[in-house]
Amino acid sequence: MKLDELFALLRRRGFLWPSSEIYGGAQGLYDYGPLGVALKRRLEDAWSAWFLGLSDDYYPIQPSELLPEPVVRASGHLENFTDPEALCGHCHHAFRAETVLEKVRPEGVDGLAPSAIAELIAQHHVLCPSCGQAALTVPAPFHLMFGVDFGVTGRERAYLAPETAQGSYLAFARMWDVGRKTLPLGLAVIGRAYRNEIAPRQVLFRMRAFTQAELQIFFDPASFPVPFADVRDERLPLLWAARRAEGATDIEWTSVTDLVAGGLPEFYVYHLAQLFRFLRDALGYPAERIRLFEKSESERAFYNRIQFDAEVRLDSLGGFREVGAVHYRGDYDLGRHSKGSGRDLTVTLTDGRRVLPHVLEITFGVDRNLWALADLHLAVEGERTVFRLPPYLAPIALGVLPLLKKDHGPYARSLLDRLRRAGIAAAYDSSASIGRRYARMDEAGVPFCVTVDGESVDPAGPTRDTVTLRERDSRAQERVAIAEIPARLADRLRPPRPVTAPAEIA
Ligand code: GLY
Repeated sequence: MKLDELFALLRRRGFLWPSSEIYGGAQGLYDYGPLGVALKRRLEDAWSAWFLGLSDDYYPIQPSELLPEPVVRASGHLENFTDPEALCGHCHHAFRAETVLEKVRPEGVDGLAPSAIAELIAQHHVLCPSCGQAALTVPAPFHLMFGVDFGVTGRERAYLAPETAQGSYLAFARMWDVGRKTLPLGLAVIGRAYRNEIAPRQVLFRMRAFTQAELQIFFDPASFPVPFADVRDERLPLLWAARRAEGATDIEWTSVTDLVAGGLPEFYVYHLAQLFRFLRDALGYPAERIRLFEKSESERAFYNRIQFDAEVRLDSLGGFREVGAVHYRGDYDLGRHSKGSGRDLTVTLTDGRRVLPHVLEITFGVDRNLWALADLHLAVEGERTVFRLPPYLAPIALGVLPLLKKDHGPYARSLLDRLRRAGIAAAYDSSASIGRRYARMDEAGVPFCVTVDGESVDPAGPTRDTVTLRERDSRAQERVAIAEIPARLADRLRPPRPVTAPAEIA
């Protein structure tokens, strides 16, 4: 589906809409409605089930979203968290330099000085995208953090977190004391991040306030054991930086063992494979639409040693877009916060060595992936619009529909209550024809519907307390006893956990 078409559908069904819509919308801000909230929550639950499922030593925490200035000074964000912009001297519009140069330099402008960007603009005679004049200048990089007054004196400053990661680095010392005092130690945050983007666009892909799910794993650089056997048979779709530099854009499916033989650390490849599996197996993204995009040294974020972005090809956005990444950040973060806070963040391991832990970060954009789910699973098939979400991600798991409102409504209402008590996210709909109701449920992604009819409520009949169970995808219908429904659906409504290799039994 095209972007406008998809957004219109999501807005009409109340998944999401522009914030402050009655004022014409606020750039880069979106609100979620009931279906959007539920879908987002399921996506977050699926993320937690997968990534916290990787190790008993990975824990969820919820840090503050406001960071005092000394924190962002130490982290490097105050100095480095910027984006080059291009300003039009004629119409005074500002653009991301990367967007302006998209056609002539598809690899982006990360790492280029303003003067080098200005030179590219001049060399390629790039015009202002808004007024068409050649009056673009490249000033000092634009700062992306939102600063706010903090406290009553007006002298203190805080910043809205530009990434959830910092909260985990700040919590490391406390969690070391609270926990088992061993490495690796993983801290997972699902939280809001804020960036004053120069040019918010593409709906949920470049927002000014958004939700990230990030796992920071602190580890001993001398040894980070992972259950590599769990992913040994996996092949990954890679786009190498060196191949891109030669102009290639083809994906090379490479086995994880070859990646390790080629020099990437086993712990890195293992977690990259787990991110790939999560996208393919838990979110149902077709494997051929996923690629792992290696960032070169000049393209990487300032703190990264190894970076592959997980990208998904989306029709609504006309190509591959980043939805997550695996970053090897080295000892950058704890090193900077040791200096900034004056607190020594090295730890003593059981063998007596003192180490400053390194960080492996797995990032995941919750809003971006919500959009990707809609792009990849919402399909118009003739007259029918179906949101083929995996059942455990569906905002509503089960629709409860009385065939005739008057005759079957009361029974259906009590069935609804009973199913909700069994933990099923069920919704009731008694208006319009049964066909129209199925269509509404299909569009909202509801994987199962039960219909209460005369047979269900017939006090003497042999089919008393049975209903028809309809599956969204196959549209198959089956008569089932209502007592069986929770058990029938339980497995399909539970988000998957990472698969582990079978233990060897001696
Ligand atoms: N924490 C990494 C990022 O926000 O991209």
